[in-house]
Amino acid sequence: MNESHLTFLASPEWARMLETDLLPWLLSVADLGDDVLEVGPGPGLTTDLLRQHAARVTAVEVDAPLAVALAERLSGTNVDVIQCDATDTGLPSGRFSAATCFSMLHHVPRPDLQDRVFAELGRVLRPGGVFVGTDSRDLDRIRDAHAGDVFVPVDPDTFGARLERAGFADVGIDVGEYQIRFSASKPRGS
Ligand SMILES: C[S@@+](CC[C@H](N)C(=O)[O-])C[C@H]1O[C@@H](n2cnc3c(N)ncnc32)[C@H](O)[C@@H]1O
Repeated sequence: MNESHLTFLASPEWARMLETDLLPWLLSVADLGDDVLEVGPGPGLTTDLLRQHAARVTAVEVDAPLAVALAERLSGTNVDVIQCDATDTGLPSGRFSAATCFSMLHHVPRPDLQDRVFAELGRVLRPGGVFVGTDSRDLDRIRDAHAGDVFVPVDPDTFGARLERAGFADVGIDVGEYQIRFSASKPRGS
């Protein structure tokens, strides 16, 4: 991520937006259950929210310095931080009650790699587990904020079909002013 983007994602302003905007929606669309996976925590303000609402959180971050910093900050809490790629986590199949990703998918540089993230999250979820998250819309001002950075937002018109191809059901996609919010579930008996 570029420096200004990273600074914003660690700011009190972003923490407030997550608390007032993301959290009520998140709790209204899904029961996160007891064992939550987050991919792409970055500085971890989203992790801070999740860990107040789940017994255990595992945060998977591909960027080594960010992963090390988050592991240090949350050492001794109910969060485990793992430095790895969300396309291939090495985590056990069928373990998690929920998988989450917030403002992360557009940092995965190709649609086929994003599809691999969806398949991997489907693999590590329990049957009946939920996949919930947000991602940026493809707007000029957001694209500009990613100068020198990866910006490959998912297309809301095809995103639902992509999640279904990865094995998810009950897909809901809400297109907001600056982001999309989505929820889906891994079918029971799968
Ligand atoms: C924009 S930040 C979002 C941080 C946080 N979720 C938030 O909303 O405040 C996206 C994060 O996803 C991470 N990321 C990108 N691709 C990833 C991948 N394939 N596996 C795990 N993490 C990834 C980036 O390193 C970055 O820390």
